Amino acid sequence: CGIVGYIGHRQADALIIKGLERLEYRGYDSAGIAILSDSLSIWKKKGKVAALREEIANNNTTGMVGIGHTRWATHGEPNDVNAHPHTGGNGRLALVHNGIIENYAVLKNALIAEGHRFESETDTEVLVHLIEEIQDEGDLALEEAVRLALMRVEGAYAIAVVDSRNPSVLVGARKASPLVVGIGEGEYFIGSDASPFLDSTRRVVYLDDNQIATITLEKGLEIKNTENESQPPFIQELDMQIEALEKNGYEHFMLKEIYEQPTTIFDAMRGRISSKENRVTLRGLEEYANRFVRANRIIIVACGTSYHSGLIGEYLIEDLARIPVEVEYASEFRYRNPILNERDIVIALSQSGETADTLAALELAKQKGAMIYGIVNSVGSSIARLTDAGSYIHAGPEIGVASTKAFTGQVTVLTLLALSMAQKLSTVSNTTFQTLVTELESIPEKVKECLKADEHIRYIAKEIKHHHNALYLGRGYNFPVALEGALKLKEISYIHAEGYPAAEMKHGPIALIDETMPVIVTATNQSAYEKIISNVQEVLARKGVVIAVVPKGETAISSMAHHVIEIPATEEQLSPLLSVIPLQLLSYHIAVELGRNVDQPRNLAKSVTVE
Ligand code: G6P
Repeated sequence: CGIVGYIGHRQADALIIKGLERLEYRGYDSAGIAILSDSLSIWKKKGKVAALREEIANNNTTGMVGIGHTRWATHGEPNDVNAHPHTGGNGRLALVHNGIIENYAVLKNALIAEGHRFESETDTEVLVHLIEEIQDEGDLALEEAVRLALMRVEGAYAIAVVDSRNPSVLVGARKASPLVVGIGEGEYFIGSDASPFLDSTRRVVYLDDNQIATITLEKGLEIKNTENESQPPFIQELDMQIEALEKNGYEHFMLKEIYEQPTTIFDAMRGRISSKENRVTLRGLEEYANRFVRANRIIIVACGTSYHSGLIGEYLIEDLARIPVEVEYASEFRYRNPILNERDIVIALSQSGETADTLAALELAKQKGAMIYGIVNSVGSSIARLTDAGSYIHAGPEIGVASTKAFTGQVTVLTLLALSMAQKLSTVSNTTFQTLVTELESIPEKVKECLKADEHIRYIAKEIKHHHNALYLGRGYNFPVALEGALKLKEISYIHAEGYPAAEMKHGPIALIDETMPVIVTATNQSAYEKIISNVQEVLARKGVVIAVVPKGETAISSMAHHVIEIPATEEQLSPLLSVIPLQLLSYHIAVELGRNVDQPRNLAKSVTVE
């Protein structure tokens, strides 16, 4: 979910609605806004922020203090009632919340016993009633009631609250969900990230867990922790371009982000690699070089697309640096009592740096004494701040819910990490190192080449869009690419798809193959090339429709397949950076052909800050 808050000298409604549109990638089931003037007014609407914008267009929303929310539903289905902001029994407070109040049922029962009545099914409404109850009992200032209420809450939250009895104060707080305060000229903003207010200010304060921000125009921003101790705000200046938040002429953010990859891959390598000097340097790794070269084991934790780049990381690090690697879904890792010690390094991969499960997995690893390293896109995010060291991927904001440039950014940084470790451990020959580094430098140009297949891929998309299933196959480095290709298709076209190691197909999925099953085969591997030819024959023998991604000039598979997509040849270890591009474009075009909402697919959210 996304949260926005404003207090200042301008009309709050327009600023908040615009802010919510910027945060819409975080959730878009419903949206709402509360504005304070003489009294408190709340508008909420199921669906996109656009529906809310329409709803308030004909209403008087005058007021210079307000909060807003765009929701990804957890408790309660998405509808007008369950949408945020929520209010207490006497309609004085309004609160927006991102996260989950785990002990809400206990709190709710206690409040019902006190005479509170609830309108929605949400945990958030319980929190606002609790604040109200505490405030009324002790006739307390808003921030004090919020603090005391939060001490009774278990779970994760980022909240913003306003109170019509204290109309010149805006309160925000966080625990395990992101919240950032923007400091403008005589005005202040709150956001789940800085994008809602970047046009107005780049001066920000990221709240830490258990901090409560009280903002008034007289005293500015004051921060306390839940223990009631004052905490000096640490103001940072952000370096982010507004253009990065716009579509720049592309029809969708996803397409723009696919096309940005030659640049973003280059940016992930910038200053870190030099074939002339025969060197790869990642600052985060250098600081902890001893820990890395002595590591017994590396464990990569991640979710979604980031998990797939983690799998490629496993192939790279084991292949080049000869250190055992395990890759785990963060949500599984954290709950299965994993064996960890000081000789282990846990690497978290995350675009947003806020994924709740990944964050919790890292906290666990830290407790157990492992070194924790982050490969993250979002600068200043929770994961970036928790880790001992790390490397940003520098892809710029990724807005499309289906991840593209963050994936290739992560794979690029993992390649640099594996190469750097290999050099330190002398696990690859100088020639291999030199070849890979030189080839890696040429990848951005080769990605540009891959993008030239766009029109052809659009044609293939039209041909196969009516199928209800798809199978993605790959071997070795291209197996995780097959998983990622299938995920992309599922996410944005709602076509069921599965990724499989090509050879494993005969142990099950082959039963599904007939003339209604498109099979997308990524066959860029030099190793096991003959074997993948056999796999293609197995599919064709069962009348499957074969779409093959092959290196330029390939003939064996190309002559058999129904559709062929050629990409430039490269070293096997680097092939995912190229072979994923046509798969991204294929799912993009299929989704467009089917009239899906590409940037905001149903039920999904960009940043999943609940477990
Ligand atoms: C959500 C997004 C995915 C993303 C995953 C992990 O499911 O929709 O695109 O891959 O979260 O997110 P992270 O920010 O940790 O990479």
